[in-house]
Amino acid sequence: MGSPADTSKTSKLERYNSYLLRRVSSAKVVAASSHLLFRATILAALLLIFLFLLHYPPLLSTSHYSAAAASHSNHRSLLSSASYGGAAWERGVRASASPRRPDGLSVLVTGAAGFVGTHCSLALKRRGDGVVGLDNFNAYYDPALKRSRQALLARHGVLVLDADINDGALLAKLFEVVPFSHVLHLAAQAGVRYATRNPQSYVASNVAGLVSLFEIVAKHADPQPAIVWASSSSVYGLNTDAPFSELHRTDRPASLYAATKKAGEAIAHTYNHIYGLSITGLRFFTVYGPWGRPDMAYFSFTKSILAGKPITLFRMPDGTAVQRDFTYIDDIVKGCLGALDTAEKSTGVAGGGKKRGPAQLRVYNLGNTSPVPVAKMVSILEDLLGKKAKKSVVTLPQNGDVPFTHANVSLAATDFGYQPTTDLATGLRKFVKWYLQYYSVETGKKINGKSNTAGEEEKGMAASA
Ligand SMILES: NC(=O)c1ccc[n+]([C@@H]2O[C@H](COP(=O)([O-])OP(=O)(O)OC[C@H]3O[C@@H](n4cnc5c(N)ncnc54)[C@H](O)[C@@H]3O)[C@@H](O)[C@H]2O)c1
Ligand SMILES: *[C@@H]1O[C@H](CO)[C@@H](O)[C@H](O)[C@H]1NC(C)=O
Repeated sequence: MGSPADTSKTSKLERYNSYLLRRVSSAKVVAASSHLLFRATILAALLLIFLFLLHYPPLLSTSHYSAAAASHSNHRSLLSSASYGGAAWERGVRASASPRRPDGLSVLVTGAAGFVGTHCSLALKRRGDGVVGLDNFNAYYDPALKRSRQALLARHGVLVLDADINDGALLAKLFEVVPFSHVLHLAAQAGVRYATRNPQSYVASNVAGLVSLFEIVAKHADPQPAIVWASSSSVYGLNTDAPFSELHRTDRPASLYAATKKAGEAIAHTYNHIYGLSITGLRFFTVYGPWGRPDMAYFSFTKSILAGKPITLFRMPDGTAVQRDFTYIDDIVKGCLGALDTAEKSTGVAGGGKKRGPAQLRVYNLGNTSPVPVAKMVSILEDLLGKKAKKSVVTLPQNGDVPFTHANVSLAATDFGYQPTTDLATGLRKFVKWYLQYYSVETGKKINGKSNTAGEEEKGMAASA
């Protein structure tokens, strides 16, 4: 405002106006002003469209991952609480939630159609626990993959409801129907780089959604379940002291994703303190494996290598390699189950009454404890796929990625015997085997002695769960 450019624009407008006024005879003033009015209306409309697009930048991008669809699906389930309730619905929910072993858990798994959620739900069901899943099936990545995971879970007797964690009415109804002993909260907007494109989706799921869940558990669930939820190694941000320990500082997030996970840990503290909720945060380190996430490097690299398309690798400005503490999904599942099994009961009273005493509040790293350069991960994939990658190496842009991650897991080892057992080459072999079967890719290369043609989609899971 008031810049020379603005002033010159204003005076140009004024000159134009007086030019118009001089030009038209008084008889034509009415016609001319209606022209101006018309132009002003068009201008205002364009301005509104521009402002709208500014607030919804994903509409401008031609990205494969449709944030518009993601936020649309959020809004849909927020506005119309889908279809739930009724005798048949309640029967289905109760059946899925019922444990099949003595003293089995009854677990609500949010984000159950997600990568980690699917594996955990299946592992719980297999050992005889009751599981009800919940997922909003947003289009951050291919919803068809989420639907396949849902179908897989259905075949194992796990019901996954189409619902958003921001739908408080649905959550309240669920806790009314089932006295869940535990909640495994994995629903979140994941991904680090996407946060610059669709920041609001992170706030909606990772902050507002978390509060929505805690509120219902604190005030409507009776008994109050213990909560185990996914934080992230990204909370260590720009730390360089390796390996990362739970005592290290977490106040330098490098992405909005990391900031929302850090916020989640602070919010967890509040609900533990005020309402006596038993809460355990798990800081996962780069999880990979069958049924994984298409937005993650190992997955998208596999797709690109097979298609002969180039991939981009990052290095630090000083030339050092970017490293990740890649953690195989089965190890993460064991950690999640260990955390659930050692979670103490919440001590609050439904309705927000006086709590019975201090409740458990924990945070654990779940990693592999051996960081690997991303370039090494690519060379393992090249061997497994029998095909070279077209690599271009560029300096890591400041888009949220951190130079390296490395977990110290001694706390989880002490408290629930967490011990990662799968190295990257072994884990990637299982991932590639699943990938080739799931997408029916014929490479001519044999993995585990079998040729990989179209196969049964459950094999990747059977091999890993
Ligand atoms: N995979 C990793 O490497 C990794 C690392 C650190 C932390 N995490 C965390 O672990 C959890 C699981 O990750 P993942 O890799 O399985 O991701 P994912 O995207 O496959 O799973 C998350 C699921 O949550 C659902 N979801 C998102 N917002 C929702 C909402 N508002 N309501 C209901 N459902 C919603 C999504 O549809 C998705 O199916 C997430 O909290 C993630 O932030 C993952
Ligand atoms: C790992 O963390 C524990 C505390 O949880 C600490 O005692 C130990 O020294 C750490 N190990 C390393 C290698 O830093």
